[in-house]
Amino acid sequence: MARGKLITLDGIDGAGKSSHIATTVELIRREKNVEVVSTREPGGTPLGEKIRALLLHESMRAETELLLMFAARCEHLREVIEPALQRGAWVVSDRFTDASFAYQGGGRGIAPNRIEILERWVQGELQPDLTLLFDIDAAGARARLAASGTATDRFEVEQAAFFERVRAAYLARAHAFPERIRVIDSSATLHRVSEQVTHALLSL
Ligand code: TYD
Repeated sequence: MARGKLITLDGIDGAGKSSHIATTVELIRREKNVEVVSTREPGGTPLGEKIRALLLHESMRAETELLLMFAARCEHLREVIEPALQRGAWVVSDRFTDASFAYQGGGRGIAPNRIEILERWVQGELQPDLTLLFDIDAAGARARLAASGTATDRFEVEQAAFFERVRAAYLARAHAFPERIRVIDSSATLHRVSEQVTHALLSL
């Protein structure tokens, strides 16, 4: 049985990635005829979901936030992602480690080499096979969040400058890993964004 693939979707809050998770899962099921596991971070396991509730709603220092992200990720990898990949399933994760480099690195100012240590520790050599980066500027994302009326967690209430730093960190990662990370212009119409998503997935 061939090992499955790990596809991750990422981007700043309000970039609109959530609208494309279901279509991504459906497209892979249809085109590749494989089992698809749809999951998310932080979370994805019972313990991870408890850690997620802490991360989204309890105030804490940046280092604690980073360590909890990787604690949840450790469970997620061992309990869900690795077993799925081994049995040949494809995994679609709503966010993954790029978010730690973008939010805790770019947004909160933690040095990337510290994050790399945790990445290596928790993931070893594992990297996503494809990452769709939904890119939009902070003002556009803010407008979408306001329209959906769900800006309620510790991240979503951050200022525009925070999201500009997060976005810049995501784009720097896309630049550093051009083979893995596809930048999707998320300011386009829903239809155009869907086309870009389909194109990136079919190229796998
Ligand atoms: P998300 O699932 O996008 O929340 P929502 O349910 O509102 O769509 O992600 C929750 C938040 O967690 C998001 O603001 C980004 C943040 N996050 C990090 O800061 N670092 C990480 O490593 C991950 C995975 C998420």
